[in-house]
Amino acid sequence: MEKFVINGGTPLTGEVTISGAKNAALAIIPAAILSRDVCRIENLPVSISDVSFMMKTLRHIGAGVKLIDKNTIEIDSRHVNSYVISHDMTKHLRASYYFIGALLGRFGRARVAMPGGCYLGPRPIDQHIKGFEALGANVTIDDSAIVDTSANKLTGSPVYLDVVSVGATVNIMLAASRAEGLTVIENAAKEPHIVDLANFLNSMGADVRGAGTDVIKIRGVENLHGCTYSIIPDQIEAGTFMVAAAATRGDVLIKNVIPKHMDSITTKLIECGATVEEFDEAVRVTMDSRPKKCNIKTMPHPGFPTDMHPQFAVLLSLAEGTSIISESIWSNRFRYTEQLARMGADINVDGQLAMIHGVDHLKGAPVKADDLRAGAAVVIAGLAASGRTEIEDILHIDRGYENVVEKFGNLGADIRRVYCVEPFNIGDVG
Ligand code: EPZ
Repeated sequence: MEKFVINGGTPLTGEVTISGAKNAALAIIPAAILSRDVCRIENLPVSISDVSFMMKTLRHIGAGVKLIDKNTIEIDSRHVNSYVISHDMTKHLRASYYFIGALLGRFGRARVAMPGGCYLGPRPIDQHIKGFEALGANVTIDDSAIVDTSANKLTGSPVYLDVVSVGATVNIMLAASRAEGLTVIENAAKEPHIVDLANFLNSMGADVRGAGTDVIKIRGVENLHGCTYSIIPDQIEAGTFMVAAAATRGDVLIKNVIPKHMDSITTKLIECGATVEEFDEAVRVTMDSRPKKCNIKTMPHPGFPTDMHPQFAVLLSLAEGTSIISESIWSNRFRYTEQLARMGADINVDGQLAMIHGVDHLKGAPVKADDLRAGAAVVIAGLAASGRTEIEDILHIDRGYENVVEKFGNLGADIRRVYCVEPFNIGDVG
């Protein structure tokens, strides 16, 4: 088993380069199988485990995956020969369900087991199914939780999303790209990774317009060809480093970013008293005093992202006064609060609200990563706290943050990945 050991209290200073966006990569990788050609994908966070599982799944259905360099792969979809993906492939990550839309677009058929991923509360897929059925697919979910979708022919159609859903928007875009006629997604998600997927599909010869607004129009095409495409930087990884710089009262230049993608995070950091300088492809965050309190409501993009809620809660735990975070996306986003409490944070959760009473300082403690962004939060807390913090269950963090120890270490953090023997359990004696 591995864990992180952090000796906190050192302000982060220096420069860090952000990796390609995980959530863009997870939508774009399945999209490559819509063509019977070779796609080259650059600026990919190849070493995060979610991407590794995606590449394993591609090979599982017959695609060729070649590692060109540490952040570039080539996907050869000419020999994709199966539309079936079993649970042992899908259990690792939520985004495995994007293969439903991609396989439906490729073969008119997909049998994909329900996905795994971070437990953030119920994660229904009713809007995905609504989209597939609007395109003419017959969808059944059998008692072994296999989503079976089949269509004689996919036909473009209007789809109104009852909930703004990133996943449903992605899945419908994938299936509609090869459907006959026009699909109009209304109340679509507007995240940067939706725009990135649209740009990737269009570079393959698709006809997707309006991504980034709440109405996306996709005119299906007969065939898609290969392409070379570079993924956008990860705005949530960037935001995580921005908050870490502020929480440790440091001075950090965060490079390879699109500042516009972090507007809501920047606005809130400035409200808390940080200085944020924006450059063409970088932001610089400095904080030289105790943070001020502020209130946050998580919303779909361009609102404040739910994926930055736990990280920002660490900064607010150190602020003067009481802050409130209202979580509107996930019912189980508050698992991080139990771990921060072990480090001296004073947070009361009431329904979908976290009341955060600022404390002077946090102290190091043994904690764990309950999910990906809760893990990012305890890393930031350990860096800001005095003393030693040990973080277990770091596999959650490795799912979405590339080279996290090196990146924080290069900013002056005392952080190590240590391998510890599994605690011996007499019951293990076989
Ligand atoms: C994506 O999850 C991201 N994951 C999540 O990031 C992120 O938190 C979320 O979008 C919101 O931005 C990936 O991109 C791989 P949704 P997704 O469908 O697509 C409800 C991370 O940390 N809903 O936008 O699963 C749903 O319950 C991860 O990187 C339905 O009701 O989220 C939620 O309340 C965690 N029916 C809301 O919509 C549906 O069919 C938004 O969910 C689908 C969703």
